[in-house]
Amino acid sequence: MLRVESIQKSFDGFMAVNRADLVVDKGEIVAVIGPNGAGKTTLFRLITGHLQPEKGRVIFKDSDITGLPPHQICRRGVSLSFQVVNIFSRMTVFENVQVAVLSHKKKTYKFFSPARNHGVRETREILENVGLADKAGSVSGSLSHGDQKVLEIAIALGNSPELLILDEPTAGMSPEETSVTIELIKRLTSHMGLTILFCEHDMELVFSVAHNIMVMQQGRSIVQAGPDEVRNNKQVQEAYLGEAE
Ligand SMILES: Nc1ncnc2c1ncn2[C@@H]1O[C@H](COP(=O)(O)OP(=O)(O)O)[C@@H](O)[C@H]1O
Ligand SMILES: [Mg+2]
Repeated sequence: MLRVESIQKSFDGFMAVNRADLVVDKGEIVAVIGPNGAGKTTLFRLITGHLQPEKGRVIFKDSDITGLPPHQICRRGVSLSFQVVNIFSRMTVFENVQVAVLSHKKKTYKFFSPARNHGVRETREILENVGLADKAGSVSGSLSHGDQKVLEIAIALGNSPELLILDEPTAGMSPEETSVTIELIKRLTSHMGLTILFCEHDMELVFSVAHNIMVMQQGRSIVQAGPDEVRNNKQVQEAYLGEAE
């Protein structure tokens, strides 16, 4: 579904992503791991068009999407949920998702226009899928941090993506919220047929949900393989998992 080839991005001469490669197959959950500053967020932003690569290519479903603007990449079916919560905090949970659904359908959301009645079924469906249906009428800013992160995922789903990219989906979550989110990620792939690419520093989470793991270090992709192979990889142990032994 997605193939990133030798992609590169530097900031003022500092190589944040250095000829990284990544492959994501349809229906898979793929994790990118690596220490802080390894280049994970930059890699995701290169894929979604929020940053322009200096070198390399991004291929999505057999077409070259390298350098396209974010809205075009989003329209083709790639949606990114940010590391930092990014919601309209004064709007309700329902309205936040409805705005995404309507904007995907190229309808403008206005409070007193008929558009308000559009996208209602889709919005309800998404909220049920992510487990926020009972909080649909709540003001988003009043949600717990964990629920706000889940709302971010719901907003990303409003774009009807085929590939959902999550940047540290459980950052700052309690252990209970984390396990709910893990179940959600699994359900989105197994029941809704989504493909998920995410990065995360919680190793337990990564190894329990990911079918495939890519390890980044100083902007490079040092290995991509199944969880067992990654766990047993010497280079990975030395570079990253060493202290856990
Ligand atoms: N907009 C930017 N300007 C300058 N440096 C940046 C910018 N974005 C990221 N970096 C640097 O690039 C490196 C990789 O960052 P990032 O992709 O956020 O890593 P990660 O998500 O793996 O923690 C870091 O050293 C970071 O400081
Ligand atoms: Mg990051």
